[in-house]
Amino acid sequence: MTTTCSAPGKIYLFGEHAVVYGKRAIASAINLRTTATVSESDQTTISSILGTTGIDYMVHPYISRCIESLAVPAVSIRIDSEIPVGSGLGSSAAAVIATLGALNAEFRLMMDSATLAEVGHRIERDVQGAASPTDTAVSTMGGTMLIQPGVASSRLRLIECDIVIGDTEEFSSTKELVGNVRILHEDYPGVMDSIFDIIDNLSEIGVPLIKGRDYRSVGELMNIDHGLLDAIGVGSAKLSRLVCAARDAGAYGAKITGAGGGGCIVALVRGSSADGGGADAVASAINDAGGRAIITKASEDGVVVRETF
Ligand code: MEV
Repeated sequence: MTTTCSAPGKIYLFGEHAVVYGKRAIASAINLRTTATVSESDQTTISSILGTTGIDYMVHPYISRCIESLAVPAVSIRIDSEIPVGSGLGSSAAAVIATLGALNAEFRLMMDSATLAEVGHRIERDVQGAASPTDTAVSTMGGTMLIQPGVASSRLRLIECDIVIGDTEEFSSTKELVGNVRILHEDYPGVMDSIFDIIDNLSEIGVPLIKGRDYRSVGELMNIDHGLLDAIGVGSAKLSRLVCAARDAGAYGAKITGAGGGGCIVALVRGSSADGGGADAVASAINDAGGRAIITKASEDGVVVRETF
């Protein structure tokens, strides 16, 4: 039997970094997905854009950890992804959840989706050193979600407006950025806790605004969050350039998404329209500012399995 399983990447509307300190975050699955194709084999192989290996913690740390933590027999796994790697769009979580979902179905392990998300979170934490449950929860469940560490995540109304991502195409290490923020937090706990409390408040205020589809106000709060992310040292000149370009082109709001340092920005925009300011205009402005724009939408689809005999 061969099992194919796909899982989505995600954007953060609010709460990256603060969520590592137990604060609330709002994130949404998007229409960019990673697919894992699994079949039983004589020996274990993992193939991806990075090459073909066996269990290999240098080249394929996440997939190697998935195979070993489920203790499954020899298996061949192929990973194909539409999500840029190391860009803050949850590429590693999508690969982990797609792989776990495929192994779960192939070997009839009977894990439900909550267990899948939990095992995926543990794997991300083991490989990265620190990880909130956001990426693995959103990749498993899909949709727009309110994440509260230590409390069950809840599903919100799906973001319905267009989303434009701006990729700086500069690699960023989540582990390194989380480490830098930790040092700032150790040096200035009062200041950093106050900033995290404000970000937590943005998520709280964001919930009814998303329910009411008030994307103009959601965008304003995203702009505030971007300023706070800059304040905790995870901005860069290029991220700011792309954020300003998106806002000037008429986005409701734009901010860093994910760990920052490089990686991506996310802009909420109204649908393309004759009076400008739509997804196409924002995408061109991002491209002109030196980024790579991706127009996408939020997605209700989490992990999806297909078996072929
Ligand atoms: C990385 O995409 C987001 C961070 O908040 C880390 C995490 O939540 O695991 C920086």
